[in-house]
Amino acid sequence: MENLILRFPTLEDKDNWLKYYRSFKKSNSDSDPLNYSKYKNYEKFLIDIGKQECLTKKAKKNIATSSYILLEKGNIIGHIFIHHYIDLSILKDYEGHIGYGIKPQERNKGYGTKMLSLALDKCHDLGLKEVYISCDKNNISSSKVIEKNNGKLLEEVYIPEENIILKKYKIVL
Ligand SMILES: CC(C)(COP(=O)(O)OP(=O)(O)OC[C@H]1O[C@@H](n2cnc3c(N)ncnc32)[C@H](O)[C@@H]1OP(=O)(O)O)[C@@H](O)C(=O)NCCC(=O)NCCS
Repeated sequence: MENLILRFPTLEDKDNWLKYYRSFKKSNSDSDPLNYSKYKNYEKFLIDIGKQECLTKKAKKNIATSSYILLEKGNIIGHIFIHHYIDLSILKDYEGHIGYGIKPQERNKGYGTKMLSLALDKCHDLGLKEVYISCDKNNISSSKVIEKNNGKLLEEVYIPEENIILKKYKIVL
């Protein structure tokens, strides 16, 4: 756990990323780490995430975003993205600043908690003073990851489009 690295993906990570992505899809075909499915190939994906912006579902506009992979001994264990800025009136209820995932075979070993902690350091470096993160109330693992990183529950909101209750957290940096 001491040798975990959170960094931008590079060309050399291609095979490693594809292996990671496949294992994620196998466990949940709806999941799409870092929106990879929208790209024709890894190289195009790299160019796009290198621009450090992404189109958000709810705001329907590009938002400055950094996307990272978590590595241990050269293997990809997780991914996480950080929106540098969120329009609180539009996004706070839904997506928040951060989204993440851990390789299915590596869950419940503390990686998610550590990855979020490393990402919060990046948020601090970006000048953020507070970070909003939301998760489905049924996603106990994610709630725990946020709470173990000092996430304070703000409220629970019902999202009719998705028929879920969203837990909205705030982390003060
Ligand atoms: C959410 C996710 C990133 C968590 O990563 P992780 O590496 O498993 O997280 P951690 O091991 O650091 O912490 C998970 C905690 O949840 C706990 N947990 C998991 N399932 C649980 C359950 N059913 N009941 C109670 N606790 C549970 C674990 O015991 C652990 O807590 P502990 O460290 O106090 O024992 C991972 O499950 C994942 O990738 N899920 C799919 C994608 C996703 O949901 N992303 C988040 C969207 S908001």
